[in-house]
Amino acid sequence: MVKATERIWHNGKLIPWADANIHVVSHVVSYGSCVFEGIRCYQTPQGPAIFRLREHMQRLLNSAYVYRMPLEFSLDQLCNAACEVVRSNKMGACYVKPLVFRGYGEVGVNPFPCPVETYIACWEWGAYLGADAIEKGVDVCVSSWTRMAPNTLPAMAKSAANYMNSQLIRMEAMVNGYVEGLALDVQGNVSEGSGENIFVVQNGALVTPPLSNSVLPGITRDTVITIARELDIPIREMVIPREMLYIADEVFFVGTATEVTPVRSIDKIKVADGQRGPVTKRIQDEFFALTSGRKPDRHAWLTPVGVPVGAGAR
Ligand SMILES: Cc1ncc(COP(=O)(O)O)c(C=O)c1O
Repeated sequence: MVKATERIWHNGKLIPWADANIHVVSHVVSYGSCVFEGIRCYQTPQGPAIFRLREHMQRLLNSAYVYRMPLEFSLDQLCNAACEVVRSNKMGACYVKPLVFRGYGEVGVNPFPCPVETYIACWEWGAYLGADAIEKGVDVCVSSWTRMAPNTLPAMAKSAANYMNSQLIRMEAMVNGYVEGLALDVQGNVSEGSGENIFVVQNGALVTPPLSNSVLPGITRDTVITIARELDIPIREMVIPREMLYIADEVFFVGTATEVTPVRSIDKIKVADGQRGPVTKRIQDEFFALTSGRKPDRHAWLTPVGVPVGAGAR
């Protein structure tokens, strides 16, 4: 059960957690008209700092734009609001969730008459795929559900509707005894997990599916690509046939929730020796050094929540 914090940001104001309610006939409830983000705030030597805040908020604006949802707030305003929510709730490490959706108005598929509501909440959150997952890895299956086909639900927009597909993938995996499911795209090539992107290591090089394989343009995916380049690990975006998963040297999931999590088996076939591999470990070490602020923030990826956004600060 989510642990309530004191306040949630709604359309420019902080309101009590308990008052952040919507009517059951709000457009979003019937028609899934919501775009959102999931962002981590880490505890760092400079205090709580939100990781890649601008990039997440830009993706939120992009998702809203695709769905013709006009937002009253600029990128800077949204970034400041996220910091304000974390600050006002006196949170340290936490999860930050901005939501933009069509609220209460007319009832019918046409969303235009319904107001666009913007909320930002935060709460405490731990490991997503289990406490041991970061070190020991997770057992996954290839899902019988494929990711959305191109030109159906846009995979590049992080919409709540896409998560009905994610739920089918995750539930199927869990009832069959796996931690997570990995979906193929409509052509049968590797796409992504229900809530994370995927990387495969082969002969010391990293490969990940391109955006045209129905994947969310993950911020962590981008982080890992950047880190790999800096570590001189060859990295390619490439169509990955399903069978490449089974013969890979290493496989790992990446995402805000998942962070960087090794995959130790797929469909009960061990990935190499079933242990976290050396490339995964190198990426993890750099990733956690940057998110925790143990290494200098050379990319300006951390936004300390005490510093106003805009005026040169991130
Ligand atoms: C379907 C899906 N793919 C990938 C990701 C990873 O994206 P990010 O790294 O931006 O959290 C997520 C997480 O939000 C997701 O839900």
